[in-house]
Amino acid sequence: MKYHIVTYGCQMNLHESEKIAGILREKGYRESAPLEEADIIVFNTCCIRENAENHAFGNIGSLKKLKRAKKDLLIAVGGCMVQEAGKAELLKEKFPFIDILFGTHNLSELADLIVRKRLQKKAVLSVSDERKEIEDGISPVRTSYPNAWVNITYGCNNFCSYCIVPYVRGRERSRRKEDIISEVKQLIAEGYKEITLLGQNVNSYRDGETAFPALLDEVASIKGNFRLRFMTSHPKDFSAELVAVMKKHTNICRVLHLPAQSGSNRILELMNRRYTREKYLENVKYLKSEIPDAELTTDLIVGFPTETEEDFEDTLSLVREADFASAFTFIYSPRKGTRAAEMEGQIPEEVSKERIVKLIELVNAQTREKSGKYVGHTAEILCEGYDEKKKLYLGRDTYGRMGYFASETNPIGEFVTLKITRASGISLYGERI
Ligand code: 5AD
Ligand code: SF4
Repeated sequence: MKYHIVTYGCQMNLHESEKIAGILREKGYRESAPLEEADIIVFNTCCIRENAENHAFGNIGSLKKLKRAKKDLLIAVGGCMVQEAGKAELLKEKFPFIDILFGTHNLSELADLIVRKRLQKKAVLSVSDERKEIEDGISPVRTSYPNAWVNITYGCNNFCSYCIVPYVRGRERSRRKEDIISEVKQLIAEGYKEITLLGQNVNSYRDGETAFPALLDEVASIKGNFRLRFMTSHPKDFSAELVAVMKKHTNICRVLHLPAQSGSNRILELMNRRYTREKYLENVKYLKSEIPDAELTTDLIVGFPTETEEDFEDTLSLVREADFASAFTFIYSPRKGTRAAEMEGQIPEEVSKERIVKLIELVNAQTREKSGKYVGHTAEILCEGYDEKKKLYLGRDTYGRMGYFASETNPIGEFVTLKITRASGISLYGERI
């Protein structure tokens, strides 16, 4: 019995798919296989923007033939899109061949849902409002060695006016510190070299007296040869304590992912982000004054309702002033049920497209300029794979930049020092020293 999992969206979902694989293995499904050979196909969906949903709809639809040809094939669809109000019913209606539908809070029931489906003809549906917290009982099948993801919080309380996450992932919950520490210790003992602490808003982690900086301090202090990342941080919760912990531990990567979303105060207020451009820049300045080699990456949205040319210019100038090393850029996508979707002044698609092209040009130019400065210097890369096309090994540096190099032996899972000889866009090429 073989499984195939299709994942959309963020790292949280990628990790959740590793847990889905863990459940399937316990259920007797032995290995991951190509789509056509699988006995169960699971879609782990995303609904953060409309195009993520369109992709999933297209790919689920294309399974109709396969299902007709293979009567015993099980098709399960789960995750954020299924949790969205009314979407599970729509999926059922549009694709009657789906066997199992499960929401974000019902992941742990997947094994039972498979049993239930075998006993009945019609589709099995489980979408509840509250998460069943048995996560710690599931051992994930990790697919990203030497990196490992570790959840620290689930859900979000921020209600940024454009964002559907709080509706589909529920209120924020922090995992117990002891569980996080023991998971990380075990991963390091197993040989993982990079741990990424995950949460929609890691900075609001709290377990009793322990807030995020204290947790980070404790995780970074665990003995072993590993480095540590965390994401995502909300700028409103940026603190001197966090910077102090980053400064204290050189195994914490020198990059902070701090989504700014916009450079205009008027738009930030409409987005309900609860910080100003000035405050954001003050934090950037503080971080760089304390840790001069630190870099920032960010998320930016263009075309939020009522965004004027002037507001957009403010985003461009923020990119320059904050000196972002790289940025994920998005066109605003109205999400049903969010406040922004009801706002007047929705921006025409052509305008948003023009803006995003300009924004990407600026971000790329900045990234290129920074990459160019690496040439002639060294970078420490954690080797994570081999690029068949380039015939080179690859891995990331502390900033998350991809570095490529040749090696006679297989260095996957090793820290390798490279002398950078060439930079191309966000990628670096170098020689092992
Ligand atoms: N439209 C466009 N981008 C969005 N994001 C979240 N919601 C939306 C939306 N409705 C972006 C934000 C967030 C990232 C994960 O996705 O920039 O930081
Ligand atoms: Fe969405 Fe804002 Fe929560 Fe991030 S902090 S998940 S953008 S509501």
